[in-house]
Amino acid sequence: MRKSIVAGNWKMNGNLAANAELVTGLLSTRSGSDNVDVLVCPPAVYIPQVAALLQDSNISLGAQNASAFEKGAYTGDLSLSMLAEFGVQYVILGHSERRALFGEDDAQVADKFRAVVAAGVTPIVCIGETLQERQAGQTLDVVSRQLRAVLDVADKATLANAVVAYEPVWAIGTGLTATPEQAQEVHQALRALIAEYDAAAALKVRILYGGSVTADSAAQLFGKPDIDGGLVGGASLKAKDFLAICSAA
Ligand code: G3H
Repeated sequence: MRKSIVAGNWKMNGNLAANAELVTGLLSTRSGSDNVDVLVCPPAVYIPQVAALLQDSNISLGAQNASAFEKGAYTGDLSLSMLAEFGVQYVILGHSERRALFGEDDAQVADKFRAVVAAGVTPIVCIGETLQERQAGQTLDVVSRQLRAVLDVADKATLANAVVAYEPVWAIGTGLTATPEQAQEVHQALRALIAEYDAAAALKVRILYGGSVTADSAAQLFGKPDIDGGLVGGASLKAKDFLAICSAA
């Protein structure tokens, strides 16, 4: 059986005081239960603060992005080794906001995937269709193309540890959640695609759903056989809501 994961993507939100309050709230209420992997992904500048707050806890630390390069003249970028020094264990890659607002394409996401895996960090590869693409009946084509870009460079030995997040762009931050059936249809197709590369890994790769997940919608989504948890944006900024989502996984 696959262990569930719930990841909180804080995006560009927070400050020292709010982060401390949020993490303290998570740690004071989170049970010691280990049946779900929980992580938070603060803005990079707060990674040292959150790493210190999370020390010796059962909540892990993720980054929202990373450079594909090891070091050098890449102004504004952060390397995997820098992030790993501060305890980062997961990196979100190819989030639709990075793709749409910062021009990241499939090839760049694939390069970053290679770098993340090489650093021994777990990639969370985000894929998802726009509303226009869904309405045109292109959902599976789009997400398959995005996932293939990464699968084509993935190493058989490490593929099983990768995490995929299906995030329909039209569901992100809109309050419109995909129905559990819509999400399951895509997750099942993604797992079948991974199986074309490595059948054993396909059974192990965890595929998260993201897009307006709330404490109310989480249980039904996570109840589907190919949905292994969630990548949570807005609702991860409130300890009570995020913990309720973690409990549903
Ligand atoms: O990374 C998280 C996703 O973009 C979902 O964000 O839960 O605010 O819709 P959201």
